[in-house]
Amino acid sequence: MQGSIERILIDRKRIEDKVKELGARISGDYRGKNLVIVGVLKGAVVFLGDLVKNIDIPVTLDFIAVSSYGNTTETSGVVRILKDLDNSIEGMDVLIVEDIIDSGLTLCYLKENLRSRGANSIRICTLLDKPSRRKAKVKVDYRGFEIEDEFVVGYGLDFAEKFRNLPEICVLKPGEYMKQ
Ligand code: IMP
Ligand code: MG
Repeated sequence: MQGSIERILIDRKRIEDKVKELGARISGDYRGKNLVIVGVLKGAVVFLGDLVKNIDIPVTLDFIAVSSYGNTTETSGVVRILKDLDNSIEGMDVLIVEDIIDSGLTLCYLKENLRSRGANSIRICTLLDKPSRRKAKVKVDYRGFEIEDEFVVGYGLDFAEKFRNLPEICVLKPGEYMKQ
């Protein structure tokens, strides 16, 4: 697996420090509220697991899985819910946790969809943001790192379902895309 990696973009220490910082901000902002964290499967799982350990206020967790029609590295904007939330979010303060915002189309759809269910508030927390690729306007409330237009894997992010278990955020060797 390491042989497929061109370089480490963000190492463990930088990720850990950033996750602590985000956890502290979220804890402060949501004190006294009804916080529910909605993780977007599967990419956000590793980030979410570390993030919630750094949140020191009551919080509940729920998950949603979406897929966008289209090829593997581009989003089409047509989003389909593969697994819906288990619980109602009516009256709740929802924080959507994502691995990366690229075109913004997935989150734009999700935010509207969750808003229509009567949440009290909806905010977005993403580990990574590629602003240069944006097609839909989305307000990012909590952002880990802004990155260039490069395809990254690791720390939950995949290429063709692989590399999610890498502890760092890495750039793949260009040849890896050709093998698929
Ligand atoms: P968007 O709708 O284009 O913002 O799509 C965001 C989704 O595309 C993320 O949740 C990821 O699943 C996927 N994605 C976008 N860029 C990358 C990347 O560099 N590595 C891995 N997955 C990515
Ligand atoms: Mg994703």
